[in-house]
Amino acid sequence: MTGATAKREAFGTRIGFLLAAAGSAVGLGNMWRFPYQASEGGGAAFVLVYIVLTLILGIPLMLAEFSIGRRGQLAPIGSLRKLGGRAWGPLGYLFVAVGVLILAYYSVIAGWTVRYGVEAVFTGFAASSADHFAAVASGGDAVAFHVAFMAATVLIVVGGVKGGIERASLLLMPMLFVLVVGLALWAATLEGAGAGYLVYLKPELDAVMNPDVWRAAASQAFFSLSLGMGGMLTFASYLKRDQNLPESATVVAFTDFGVAFVAGLLVFPVIYSFGLQDAVSASTIGALFIAVPSAFQAMGDWGRVVGLFFFVVLAVGAITSAISLLEVVTASVMDEFRWSRRKAALSTGTVITLLGIVPAMNTDALGLMDKIAGEFLLLAGGLVLALFAAWRLPDEVREELLAGASPFWQRQVPRILAVLRYVVPPIVAIVLLFSLRETVAAVAAFFSG
Ligand code: PHE
Repeated sequence: MTGATAKREAFGTRIGFLLAAAGSAVGLGNMWRFPYQASEGGGAAFVLVYIVLTLILGIPLMLAEFSIGRRGQLAPIGSLRKLGGRAWGPLGYLFVAVGVLILAYYSVIAGWTVRYGVEAVFTGFAASSADHFAAVASGGDAVAFHVAFMAATVLIVVGGVKGGIERASLLLMPMLFVLVVGLALWAATLEGAGAGYLVYLKPELDAVMNPDVWRAAASQAFFSLSLGMGGMLTFASYLKRDQNLPESATVVAFTDFGVAFVAGLLVFPVIYSFGLQDAVSASTIGALFIAVPSAFQAMGDWGRVVGLFFFVVLAVGAITSAISLLEVVTASVMDEFRWSRRKAALSTGTVITLLGIVPAMNTDALGLMDKIAGEFLLLAGGLVLALFAAWRLPDEVREELLAGASPFWQRQVPRILAVLRYVVPPIVAIVLLFSLRETVAAVAAFFSG
């Protein structure tokens, strides 16, 4: 396979690309992180801030990634070098490193969801959920499920863009949508569901003025929309020029928000109707994994059935996100070293699996990796991409946004570019400074024990 003669892989259908991008976006961030952050960050006020940031940061940045990727027809390192010149290439390594770091701990959390799904089938959920979570979240079991989850991820990525990623997304994403809506409808029938909705969405309007709420919402938007690490860029490098990019980004962003919002409508009634609010406030990372299984346990056999569906949704969301993380790394190695897909996916998958043993043995390390890579480095990467797209390549990006777009979206292009130039960089830069302070504090806390 040499660069000059090998044809680049491509998505087979437009909906295939859309579902793959939505699959990357919709994941543990929606079901595990969003509901928790919303209730902490002012309920409906957080949701409002989140929507605003999705519109002014999320969609423009996704379009920056789409445009760079489709224009460059290479993974981040190659596209940045090809379009921006030698000096930009090394920045692409940042994205590869972030992909490695995020997938290493993301797969551990995904392993927990698989483990709980297996429990639903074979043993039922444990009565004392907090102890149980502590026992399974780190150690040998966590390592085993992490390795299994990584193996499944590698298998799909080895299948290629069309035969692996696109096929898995076409099958799994519709299933996820149906299940999550079904579960939320079921949750509405629980006694005390109203109290749960209230805690989730109670509008604490002063939160809108709190900069920390904006920082939390911005980093949640980056993580949830898979922005700032070249995932969307890499997927777009498999596109032809007939895809309507602005429309695609809008559809992906709203799908992602919709699933996150509905996940909150599911999680909060469950927690409140079983009086588990203490479990949630006591632990951040474990909240979902402590509170929700306790509720299912209290429901008896029926809880095992619903619980199984619940953890299937989480695992499905997780794997379609994990494949995008691995694809960035795999595609970069394929581009740079001209390795075959199989060799690249297997070797990068092995490295990430080994690195993941650290967060699988230590949940504090997992939390720290989420802070550094899942928050700070994504924001940094997003800033780089916005500057690159809007200041280094404005003409190319304009062309990409116009190509394949309908007249309505073509008329929005000047607006999108202006936002990308003047609005996104300063906001992300400010949020990045706030995040830096938090990240430094988290690192210090970790090492001081
Ligand atoms: N967006 C995914 C989620 O919400 C996580 C992710 C982050 C995937 C960054 C790719 C890149 O779970």
